[in-house]
Amino acid sequence: MRTYSFAEYQDAADVIKNRINITPEIGLVLGSGLGQLADEVEGVEPGSDPVVIAYKDIPGWPASTVFGHKGRLVIGKLGGRNVIVQQGRAHFYEGYSMQEVTFAVRVMKLLGVKTLVVTNAAGGLNVFFHPGDVMLITDHIGFAGMAGNNPLCGPNMEEFGTRFPDMSQAYDREYIKLAKAAAVKTDVALQSGVYVWLSGPSFETPAEVRMLRAVGADAVGMSTVPEVIVARHCGMRVLGFSGITNKNTDNGEIETTHQEVMEAANIIGPKIIAILKEILPKL
Ligand code: HPA
Repeated sequence: MRTYSFAEYQDAADVIKNRINITPEIGLVLGSGLGQLADEVEGVEPGSDPVVIAYKDIPGWPASTVFGHKGRLVIGKLGGRNVIVQQGRAHFYEGYSMQEVTFAVRVMKLLGVKTLVVTNAAGGLNVFFHPGDVMLITDHIGFAGMAGNNPLCGPNMEEFGTRFPDMSQAYDREYIKLAKAAAVKTDVALQSGVYVWLSGPSFETPAEVRMLRAVGADAVGMSTVPEVIVARHCGMRVLGFSGITNKNTDNGEIETTHQEVMEAANIIGPKIIAILKEILPKL
């Protein structure tokens, strides 16, 4: 199983530092089909291009194998802030270790990132959610982590944080308020709720949908929670959005396909971009 030493996180951060002349303050992780936000990033000089670094050029960085994920970092200005955008992420179901899945977060920490904005494509469990909706993540259930795949399992890296990190406010309460206000201002209907993380890659059975609803989950996906756990461990503040790409039914009446996930993401992308542009200056 691939794990990393502190020096390996530093090596990756150094390669990135050598290519940029800003300190990124905000890290953004873009989920399936939400990559278009990276196109909005500008270079440091007005009108210039951002710095783009392919994952394959960074030592230790896992490549994303999922269709719809680009596999590169875009670093520059967005909403007046210095940002580093992760266009494509590694998932546990691709066969990566939890350390590989969360590698980017620790590298961002070493680059100076204080706030992590996570986005994902998710299935709607809440019966009031519809494909195309955006859900503000107010809390999570780390199902796969609870079942033994918590990214912090193994020796604790004191350089990043404490052995037993608190998760009582994984999603920053002030950011939640700001996001709700930003949604009103930009006229985007914003749902909010609990995101549950399963390893995937198979979608849920009707019985699993019933179970997940019963434990209080509103949306289900295959990412995000590992990154949030590692971000909180190293003291970053977190803001999260799920794009609801499909409806999960408890009777097996509707099939779920990757195609529909990607199509709905095209509707969701502009909504999340609108909220983020409004909120970034305030984070
Ligand atoms: N289940 C799990 N992950 C997902 C889904 C889903 O229905 N839709 C998008 N990602």
